[in-house]
Amino acid sequence: MVNTGELIDRFRGLFPGTEPVWTVRAPGRVNLIGEHTDYNDGFVLPMAMSQALHVAAGPAADDLIAVHSTAYGQTVSFPAADPGPPGEPFWSNYPRGVAEMLRREGVRPRPGRLLIHSEVPLGGGVSSSAALEVGCALAMLALAGQSLDPVRLAMLARRAEHEYAGSPCGIMDQFICVLGRAGHALLLDCRTQTFEHVPLPLADRELLVVNTQVRHELGSSEYPVRQRQCRAGLEHIRRIHPEVRSLRDVTPAMLKAVQRDMDELTFDRCWHVVTEIERTRRAAEALREGDLPEFGRLMYGSHFSLSGKYGVSCPELDAVVEIARGVPGVDGARMTGGGFGGCAIVLAHREAEPALRAALARDYDRRFAHPALVYATRAADGASVARL
Ligand code: GLA
Repeated sequence: MVNTGELIDRFRGLFPGTEPVWTVRAPGRVNLIGEHTDYNDGFVLPMAMSQALHVAAGPAADDLIAVHSTAYGQTVSFPAADPGPPGEPFWSNYPRGVAEMLRREGVRPRPGRLLIHSEVPLGGGVSSSAALEVGCALAMLALAGQSLDPVRLAMLARRAEHEYAGSPCGIMDQFICVLGRAGHALLLDCRTQTFEHVPLPLADRELLVVNTQVRHELGSSEYPVRQRQCRAGLEHIRRIHPEVRSLRDVTPAMLKAVQRDMDELTFDRCWHVVTEIERTRRAAEALREGDLPEFGRLMYGSHFSLSGKYGVSCPELDAVVEIARGVPGVDGARMTGGGFGGCAIVLAHREAEPALRAALARDYDRRFAHPALVYATRAADGASVARL
């Protein structure tokens, strides 16, 4: 947990003569299931994490928005009225991008100072970038004395990611960061953008995040490749089923029927998406029925499909899932987020946690010569602003 007093002291030290007036909390996320389905109009089932990014913000008397990141130890600034195009350092594109998107949305960003401190691991597959976008957007809105409908806010943050960070992401990360609810997962229909908060009946279970400490850099080049492969598969299917608009409309049987016309790789990519959408629906149903063993089985199914068919896992993530699977009391495990590193999640009976930690310390460390970091998380509320 971040200590607000320390954040304020740090703000005053960095920006003498400026007083913080607002604090913002923007959570990271774990996706429970529904991976690489959002850009295929499918379903996702993420939750906001208790670990969050924090912003302290105060108005300034000049024309600038200046932003300091404790993670990078840098301050960047740009004119509030004209944030300008993307540039260096790379992380500055997130605050600059949301300032520009707010401006395009008709909100006039006001001069101010922002201090950012995050507990969400960077490059860890738990959406530190969406937290940064949403956190900065809410701080800038507060400084401008305005607010925005949550769905519009999520869409705006995603546009900043597309245009300023160059990442063609789906809508899951920004949505959950804004719309998370404590104790609940969010079942989001990425086609209609309608959603349902599904209670997480965890009772005697715990949700553990296992950070492989492998940064998911490869993900940024492979992500658009997967999007292209999905589109290529869709084109094949549309020759027989012209009514199909996205992989969301395709059933496993329809896909099997065109398998002969497709190369194996394209088929495998589409197979993952089509079956993952189905698994996500079933997983939401399992939660509603309190059937956590079934939920766990679906998590494993998701992981093996992401690893074997979609090709977005890595040896470290596969190892975490295999090790977890061997520990009595573990219901399920899978990689979470875009893949190629970052985090896995494990659903386990609370008393299984020490055995899981021991197994990881023994088998993961030995294989990869570095530890995996394990921490418990809970489903938290979406981003919020408070006046100091
Ligand atoms: C990244 C993207 C999301 C989603 C996931 C994979 O986190 O930002 O939009 O596509 O990958 O499920």
